[in-house]
Amino acid sequence: MPPPLLSIGDLSRRTGLSVSAIRFYEARGLVQAIRTRGNQRRFLRADIRRLSFALIAQQLGLKLADIETELATLPQGRPPTRRDWQAISKHIRTALQARIEMLEKTRDLLDGCIGCGCLSLDKCGLYNRDDRAARAGTGPRFLLGDRPQDFDNTDGSTNGSARVSSPRPPRSRP
Ligand code: FES
Repeated sequence: MPPPLLSIGDLSRRTGLSVSAIRFYEARGLVQAIRTRGNQRRFLRADIRRLSFALIAQQLGLKLADIETELATLPQGRPPTRRDWQAISKHIRTALQARIEMLEKTRDLLDGCIGCGCLSLDKCGLYNRDDRAARAGTGPRFLLGDRPQDFDNTDGSTNGSARVSSPRPPRSRP
């Protein structure tokens, strides 16, 4: 039977995080240590999951502030239940889905024109002639949700959806 409480070294060994990284996460409120009489940190075994979740979510590109917000909804002082995790996974799933779509789009357009304004590929003349995509805003417009056909009008106007000036998440696939 594993010990109910873990030292910071145990937590470090199991999560692969350095002790200083765990202290950092603790300072940000992602985990809360219990103090022994000798003022040593002890953690719940469930904190392994909290930290593992934070680690993976960051590697998937989620912002630490967003992860903190989500983890703050979990109960402190007792292991979160499956139901507790389900509540936050709904929000995270939406963010992850947007990332997955962006990654898929990037993969599919890797050797094509991404509407970034470089005009360096022969395909750019076809899909982003005269950098028309810049009318929708900054950045690689075709990765951010705009489509080459959004800029088909020859009078300099766009087709509605391309009038945004800030990046948007990619459109859902049909
Ligand atoms: S790849 Fe940059 S504008 Fe086409």
